[in-house]
Amino acid sequence: MIFQQLVNEDSGCLSYLIGCSEAGQAVVVDPGRDRVDEYLRVARKKGLRIAHILETHTHADHISGNRDLAAATRAPIHVHHAAGVVFEHEAVRDGDTLRVGNVELRVAHTPGHTPDSISVLVTDHSRSAEPWFVLTGDLLFVGSVGRPDLGGATAAEDIWDSLRRVLMPLDDLVEIYPAHGAGSSCGKAMSAKAGSTIGFERRFNPAFRYDDKRAFVDFIMAGIPPKPAAFEKIVAKNRGLAPLVSAKPRPYSAREAKEALAQGAGVLDLRDSADFGEGHVPGSLNVWIDSPQFAERVAGMAPAGAPGAWWSGAARDSRSRPCRRSRCTTSPPGSSRARTSSSSTCARPRNGTTVTSSRRCTCRCSRR
Ligand SMILES: [Fe+2]
Repeated sequence: MIFQQLVNEDSGCLSYLIGCSEAGQAVVVDPGRDRVDEYLRVARKKGLRIAHILETHTHADHISGNRDLAAATRAPIHVHHAAGVVFEHEAVRDGDTLRVGNVELRVAHTPGHTPDSISVLVTDHSRSAEPWFVLTGDLLFVGSVGRPDLGGATAAEDIWDSLRRVLMPLDDLVEIYPAHGAGSSCGKAMSAKAGSTIGFERRFNPAFRYDDKRAFVDFIMAGIPPKPAAFEKIVAKNRGLAPLVSAKPRPYSAREAKEALAQGAGVLDLRDSADFGEGHVPGSLNVWIDSPQFAERVAGMAPAGAPGAWWSGAARDSRSRPCRRSRCTTSPPGSSRARTSSSSTCARPRNGTTVTSSRRCTCRCSRR
C-alpha cells in the first residue's frame, strides 16, 4: 500500500493519497482546490494513476478540489448520497467499497459533524483482512471530535452514536487519520499531531471519557469556535450550487488603495507587520499573506459585504501617507519600531465600524 498524507499548513486541512503500486492506481481523499497540482505531482512520482476521488463530507472551511482533480484525471468523484451535490458524482452509502489493487476502502456512514459525514476503513489485503487504519473525516480528530453545529439539531447526539457504532468497536491498533489538524475551525483543541490510534484516543481523548450521552453533548457543545467565515458560501460552492470561479484580485498602488477606501472599499495590506508599521494607507487592514490561516483571518476581520482592494505595495510607496491617527493607543514596550497593544485602533472607523486588532501595531503615529 502507498499512503501519503498531504498537509495544508495554512488551513489545517489534511488530504490523503492512498494507492496500490501493483495496480498503479490511487484514491485521493478530501482534495483541496489549491493543492490539485500537488496531488497530480505526487501520484506521477509514485507511478500511480488517480482512479477515484472521495470526500469524507461537504466541507465548510475550504473549497474542495474534487472537480478540478476530476477534470485533470477523469476519475469519478464519490460523495455520500446525503451530501446533496448537484455536479456529476457517484453516491456512496454505508458499507460501499472502493478498491485499488490490494487496497480496499470501506465506507461507514458516521453523521454528526455533517449529515453526510463518512469514515473510511482502509484494508491492505496483501497484509491483512482487517482494517489497518481509518480516515475519520471530521468525526474524530487527534485529541478531539468534530464540531456538531454544522450538522443540524441532533448532530451532537449523532456524533455520540457514530463514535460508538463505528469507531469504538475497532481494535486499539487501528490508526486514525482525520481530515483536519490543529488550526482548523472544524473542531476545538485538536492536536498538532496528524495521526493517532484508536487505542491512544480511547485512553486520552477527552471525548471518550463520557459514558452518558447528555454529558457528552454538553461537553462538545461548550466552547465551540466561531463558525467558519463564509460558511454558507463555501458549502454552496462545494455542493455545486454556486460558481467556483471568482474574480481574481489585483494589487493596488497606495494611491488606488486610498481612493478605494474613500469609496467604501475595505483595503487589505498583505505585507508583514514590520513593513506595515513603516508606513501604510490609513484605514487599511493588515493581514500578512504568509501568516497562518490567512484566508480565515481575512474573512473573519474584513467588513462583511464591503468590496475588497488588495494592497501589496512597497513600504516606500506608503511613507508619504503615514497614519496620523491621534487615537492610536499603542504603548512602546522598549522597541523603537515595534509596538504592541491589546487594543490597537490603527484601522480607522468605516461605516460606523472600528476594526480592532490584538496584533502588533507598528504604525508611525505611535512614534509621534
Ligand atoms: Fe468539516
